[in-house]
Amino acid sequence: MADQLIIFDTTLRDGEQSPGASMTRDEKLRIARQLERMRVDVIEAGFPAASPGDFEAVRAVAEAIKDSTVCGLARASENDVRRAGDALKPARSGRIHTFIATSPIHMEKKLRMTPDQVVEQAVKAVGWASEYTDNIEFSAEDAGRSDIDFLCRVFEAVIAAGATTLNVPDTVGYNVPEQFAHTLRTLRERVPNSDKVVWSVHCHNDLGLAVANSLAAVRAGARQVECTVNGLGERAGNAALEEIVMAVRTRRDIFGCETRLDLTQIVPASKLVSGITGFTVQPNKAIVGANAFAHESGIHQDGVLKHRETYEIMRAEDVGWNSNKLVMGKHSGRNAFRTRLQELGIVIESEEHLNHAFARFKELADKKHEIFDEDIQALISDETVTPDHEHFKLVWMKFGSETGESPHARVTVSAGGEERQAEAQGSGPVDAAFRAIDSIVAAGTQLLLYSVNSITTGTDAQGEVTVRLSKDGRIVNGQGADTDIVVASAKAYLNALNKLQSGRLRVNPQAETV
Ligand code: KIV
Ligand code: ZN
Repeated sequence: MADQLIIFDTTLRDGEQSPGASMTRDEKLRIARQLERMRVDVIEAGFPAASPGDFEAVRAVAEAIKDSTVCGLARASENDVRRAGDALKPARSGRIHTFIATSPIHMEKKLRMTPDQVVEQAVKAVGWASEYTDNIEFSAEDAGRSDIDFLCRVFEAVIAAGATTLNVPDTVGYNVPEQFAHTLRTLRERVPNSDKVVWSVHCHNDLGLAVANSLAAVRAGARQVECTVNGLGERAGNAALEEIVMAVRTRRDIFGCETRLDLTQIVPASKLVSGITGFTVQPNKAIVGANAFAHESGIHQDGVLKHRETYEIMRAEDVGWNSNKLVMGKHSGRNAFRTRLQELGIVIESEEHLNHAFARFKELADKKHEIFDEDIQALISDETVTPDHEHFKLVWMKFGSETGESPHARVTVSAGGEERQAEAQGSGPVDAAFRAIDSIVAAGTQLLLYSVNSITTGTDAQGEVTVRLSKDGRIVNGQGADTDIVVASAKAYLNALNKLQSGRLRVNPQAETV
């Protein structure tokens, strides 16, 4: 029997560390439910000590998820480990993931600790974690640039203290496949009791080698890979989940192991993550890019039509392409709508929210007669379904542009319940709408990104707009969807302003000392 490769998804933690990818609790919940539907083994839901918001998000994921292990990250400090342990209490299966840096440069310049102190702190952290769970992962941060003898020493000590998964991160994406595989092999050979634990890898993509390094490590005996949907993550990102999973499955002859994932959930997961974070997927991205299965050249098309395997090593439908389902139209009732939400794994917390969502669905059905799953998912953006979370709401807008005339927009926004109206001109109707909103909100933000995507095909498709704003060092994304892209833009802008308004402050786990 082939070994099982554990898929540890860190989209909600390392993925969220990408500037601009920060997510609300409800966004994290939506992604976590999709990861569970995809049958990911471990979901790293966040870093509970980072902020009260992160703690709440991990707790909410721990409460909601039943079929995957939910993991929380903690630096090797008592406070962090206890925060993670507390956030994970509701989990059916929880894991504490604690880490400390082991490379000379990190120990000396960042932690200002001696190697002996690092070993001692690592052992203590595993000890605190063991008061909460026996599912404990230990990571040697920057293992890719650590001394191998020291790594063996730290890992030996944390196994003795109770760690069950040992993670070898290439934190700065410095390694190359043969070297990284050699490190894994050496650790497995030299660390006593190495066969009693699961060896894991966590690779960053600074040199574009995250997937190659992870797969080389699998060949060398790693049985857990840490990865993210679409390769989201710090700087150049983490290893892409879809590439790891499909490489292992397509080349089972080489890797000799298998995952338990429902592959048809890969493309829906990719779309959900890119919709929520606003990080679009490049068309030629393996597996989940729009062109990944498109055969343009005549020779290829001819070959595929005659015999599919001539040019295809995987099937688009196996990873969830073409799963666009025509779900409903304007005659669909409230019960059908509720059932479809359940099938999509979308949880609506109250009848009031369901009514609100259903009213929006009816409005959409009047404008667009074919409604797909993607339309429903866009419509259920959490802030619109849970109106109480919104400080700023779009009440009404009117805009116009005409050849030779300056585009203009008039907007009514409710700010904390008080309606205010403003009018502005701009270089286009979107610009005019943003200026009008600015004069009401006076937020003093900087616009970093504005992008529009069509959710489904056809000119009646909804446009999904992402707006990235920064203010005082915080970066947030806002989304809005509508068949009218100026309205979608105004919604996205207000959505981002609402996130800034919530004023969440958090620390990055790797920027802080213990
Ligand atoms: O890149 C890294 O080293 C990490 C650890 C916390 C696992 O993200
Ligand atoms: Zn990382």
